[in-house]
Amino acid sequence: MSAADRDKWNQKYHGKQPLVEIKPDDWLRECVDQIASEVGTSDEVGQSIPLKAVEFACGLGANSIWLAQHGWDITAMDVSAVGLERAKQTAHQVGAEVNWIAADVEEVSLANQQFELAVVFRFLDRERLPQLIDSVIRPGGWLIYETFSTAQLERTDSHIHNADFTLREDELPLLYPQFDVLSHKQCVLPDRTVMRFHARKK
Ligand SMILES: C[S@@+](CC[C@H](N)C(=O)[O-])C[C@H]1O[C@@H](n2cnc3c(N)ncnc32)[C@H](O)[C@@H]1O
Repeated sequence: MSAADRDKWNQKYHGKQPLVEIKPDDWLRECVDQIASEVGTSDEVGQSIPLKAVEFACGLGANSIWLAQHGWDITAMDVSAVGLERAKQTAHQVGAEVNWIAADVEEVSLANQQFELAVVFRFLDRERLPQLIDSVIRPGGWLIYETFSTAQLERTDSHIHNADFTLREDELPLLYPQFDVLSHKQCVLPDRTVMRFHARKK
């Protein structure tokens, strides 16, 4: 991403306060509850074993902080250092531990790191992210991905007008062929029209 794009996001977050309430995306909660009901998260002596998750383009951090509050060992990445500063303040206020990384997904290296879950909301990168996610998610791990579909462009309330920033209906399974689709659908929500893709690594 260009320095100008990074500055644009930093400027945007300069005008924002840290979150006062942790409101993760409803669909993320649904998917994570489903994962939690499927996996045994206790060892032989009943100790809880944290699963590792990574969120790309985490913004102000609500989803990652919520995951930390629900027992996940979470790494959250965003290119905006200003957004991350706000997110850190929120996490500190609620006592949540998150491994924050200020980095561009086009350049970041997560060499030797492995995660059980990758989370992406309202962000699209077709060049690097698919390869990055494939390299860091363990076989059997999950991907929860939601972002705008091309139908978003038809909405009168849309702030997006460039089709490059939206997904065609069939696109995510093609970008992530290493994952079996658990669910994949377009959803028309009160404030946005999105593709929701929940998948499991082969
Ligand atoms: C629409 S916001 C979504 C934030 C958050 N995922 C959410 O749903 O609220 C897009 C985010 O992507 C981040 N971003 C944009 N390009 C990026 C890149 N190349 N690498 C990492 N983060 C990026 C921005 O800083 C911004 O926080």
